[in-house]
Amino acid sequence: MAVLKILKVGHPLLGQKARPVENINQEIVDLARDMVETMYRAPGVGLAAPQVNQGIRLITVDLSVGENKDELFILVNPEIVEESGKITAEEGCLSVPGIYEKLERPERVVVKGYDLNGREIAIEARDLLARAFAHEIDHLEGKLFIDRLSPLKKSLIKNRIKKEQEKVST
Ligand code: NI
Repeated sequence: MAVLKILKVGHPLLGQKARPVENINQEIVDLARDMVETMYRAPGVGLAAPQVNQGIRLITVDLSVGENKDELFILVNPEIVEESGKITAEEGCLSVPGIYEKLERPERVVVKGYDLNGREIAIEARDLLARAFAHEIDHLEGKLFIDRLSPLKKSLIKNRIKKEQEKVST
């Protein structure tokens, strides 16, 4: 297992739609394991393959950040097939470090996808888990959580990130 480099906002792959996984081979299984390791090390509660420079539809989610193995979800080609309710809470992203903003998401989602054995699974998730799935599946569409904020807020954040990145590089 390896800890992978997480791409940051501004990288073009984060703005691109990821392609479906057609064959769950050893490469995909290894990538998923590395993503879990990377997510735990960050630490974070979710990761999508494009964040580690792989433009494919694969996500990992674990609200317990490795404390409880029953809370780990690895999903291939996930999609939200049902959603209901609305809930606003603070959200962040490993690709947008240091930025946390309140964002409205569905209170409940049903996510369908495949596990690493190719079995179809459906998960009903609420509140924070629903938020995590919605956030990671957004990544597969090339969308960051800041893209869901108002244009004004988004441009303020982009300026702030730009200044931070300049500070780091000088
Ligand atoms: Ni994210």
